Amino acid sequence: SGSVFADGKTKDVLNVAHRGASAYAPEHTLPSYELGEQMKGDYIEIDLQMTQDGHLIAMHDETLDRTTDGTGRVNDHTLAEIKELDAGSWFNEAHPEYAKPEYVGLKVPTLEEVLDHLGPNKKYYIETKAPEVYPGMEEKLLATLERHGLLTDKALAKRHVLIQSFSRESLLKIHDMNPDIPLVQLLWYDTPAVIEDAELDHIETYAVGVGPNYKMIDREYVQNVRDHGLDLHPYTVNKKADMKKLIDWGVTGMFTNHPDRLHEVLKGR
Ligand code: G3P
Ligand code: CA
Repeated sequence: SGSVFADGKTKDVLNVAHRGASAYAPEHTLPSYELGEQMKGDYIEIDLQMTQDGHLIAMHDETLDRTTDGTGRVNDHTLAEIKELDAGSWFNEAHPEYAKPEYVGLKVPTLEEVLDHLGPNKKYYIETKAPEVYPGMEEKLLATLERHGLLTDKALAKRHVLIQSFSRESLLKIHDMNPDIPLVQLLWYDTPAVIEDAELDHIETYAVGVGPNYKMIDREYVQNVRDHGLDLHPYTVNKKADMKKLIDWGVTGMFTNHPDRLHEVLKGR
């Protein structure tokens, strides 16, 4: 099902498994991504950081402290050093109800390893994090995607990869390198969100959609974005009541740590 919007298109609602199925497994580990797939996520969300020796790794924070047993900045460590770390035990301690012995000792995956492991038939929603800290991140990302067959005409047409960033500069850089890659402008609001036509007109020149934090948007915001023909993927929506409200307003997808819940909501329409 789906509704007809001002641009005449019928859109379904994409289920984006945020950091994998990160409510149930340690975020940005292979088991979390696999679970995201099993729980019917359409896309696996991956945040990127870059090691001192230039490897792209799947990690949300610029520091190792929260999601591994290491400390300090990612860009002060080599990949070999980061591979020594345990990226799963913290989850067992923080979430005893979902703890599993097999999470102990999980490794931080590189983007390369994630793509090798899940393969070219899956869909990836990749975020350039702190691109100003990591010169060359965009070039490395595109080269890696290219090597994995994710930038062919067919893959692009099927939107096998969406690239997202809070950094407009990073998205513009990617758009400049390859204008066919679908991009999503992330936005953060700390007061009730309003989006002006001028801003949407500009975003439309390089991106296919916007991703705002969901708590500050309303029906009118959704309508404005959709009237411009842009996709709208709010983050991070974990309660069924919020999922239903956003779907009613007309969003075209959302990020969730609970892809199983969103799947149930979508099935029940
Ligand atoms: O990428 C969408 C959402 O994940 C943005 O916030 O901090 O969870 O990466 P963050
Ligand atoms: Ca993210």
